[in-house]
Amino acid sequence: MRLLFSEKQIQQRIGALARQITKDYSGREIILVGVLKGAFVFLADLSRRIKRPVKIDFVRAASYGTGTCSSGKVNLTKQPELSLKGKDVVIVEDIIDTGVTLRFLHRCLKARRPRSLTVVTLLDKPSRRKVRFRADYIGFEIPDYFVVGYGLDCAEEHRNLRGIYIVK
Ligand code: PRP
Repeated sequence: MRLLFSEKQIQQRIGALARQITKDYSGREIILVGVLKGAFVFLADLSRRIKRPVKIDFVRAASYGTGTCSSGKVNLTKQPELSLKGKDVVIVEDIIDTGVTLRFLHRCLKARRPRSLTVVTLLDKPSRRKVRFRADYIGFEIPDYFVVGYGLDCAEEHRNLRGIYIVK
């Protein structure tokens, strides 16, 4: 495996994202909705650096497909537990690939009538898009590498690595 982003680079970028979100949500309370499982590490670090009142929730989206490809069919297997109606909601994702998961999730959560709904992703692979989707806050744009670490897995391994690595 080859290092793509070190722990220090990740934390610096998260600091910048948190500052931007803190600024954009001045005077507001934020509900951060993490997308299980991959986003759990990013959500933990980001939430602790946002200087606003935050509440935390999680969703889980299962896509039916094999290997590293999303088939395009997504299902919400864990619903949010907090009421999102009238709230400022930020979906927290680890990576956007084809865009299928987030387009689906965005529609699902929009239907709960939040006051506002935005998306923050640590990683974005724009070259892999199958559907149009753009996050509001992006940590790093990357080429079409298969990456692990910092929440991201390969067959459930490597989620606990502090850096992000390219699997060769
Ligand atoms: C990954 C990632 C996103 C989704 C992005 O999750 O966390 O949720 O794939 O892919 P897409 O843009 O092509 O839809 P994964 O299904 O690997 O589950 P995990 O987070 O539990 O590892």
